[in-house]
Amino acid sequence: MDGNGRWAKRRHLPRVAGHKRGMDVVKIVTQEASNLGVRVLTLYAFSTENWKRPSSEVSFLMKLPIDFFGTFVPDLIEQNIRVQVMGDVTKLPKDTQKSVRDAVAQTSRNTGMILNFALNYGGRDEIIQAVQSIAEQVSGKQLIPEQIDAKLFAKNLMTNQLGELADPDLLIRTSGEERISNFLLWQIAYSEMVFTDTLWPDFDEQELKNCIQQFQKRDRRFGGIKK
Ligand code: FPP
Repeated sequence: MDGNGRWAKRRHLPRVAGHKRGMDVVKIVTQEASNLGVRVLTLYAFSTENWKRPSSEVSFLMKLPIDFFGTFVPDLIEQNIRVQVMGDVTKLPKDTQKSVRDAVAQTSRNTGMILNFALNYGGRDEIIQAVQSIAEQVSGKQLIPEQIDAKLFAKNLMTNQLGELADPDLLIRTSGEERISNFLLWQIAYSEMVFTDTLWPDFDEQELKNCIQQFQKRDRRFGGIKK
């Protein structure tokens, strides 16, 4: 969800005004994705590298989930949307952790779209954690190395909670940036990518539909040949 800072700068506003507007867009896009029948919407809200930002900006970003869930959980419940989270949330401020945990609990019985927040998430961290966990299982003799395959590896990733929907079909990146930036490194092996110049605060329902329409035109062969 890139481009919040640039959106604000163009309006001579502080960067955090872009993040605030970005949060409002998250609400709009969540509702539209759910209406369109998307089953999982994962949003990269804070990466393991975002701690490098000025502390005032980090503090603001940490307050956003409190604002977001504080105002939006009733709508999420009404739309049958379930909140999940991936990343090391234990490093977030206590009040942020509580707001996230409460939202996950309050929506846990919902059966519609999963709104999956990547918070303090990094793809490399996730892979290292999986390797550590598998190594422990091997040293504890619960597993032999020959049993390690792609399926078992994926089971040890944070997206395991998404089951068969762990690998995204479509990855959208806004603001003209064309890189992955440590996002779902394992899971995007066969994802379709859509890069748009639109800054995240300007993204809307129509933009989401445009991205999905681009996805629908792609010929997905997963390394095979066309039938
Ligand atoms: C990157 O763009 C954006 C972020 C690091 C923050 C994204 C967060 C939101 C959109 C709000 C999330 C909402 C909730 C509920 C947690 P940037 O600001 O670095 O953009 P720039 O490249 O223009 O500087």
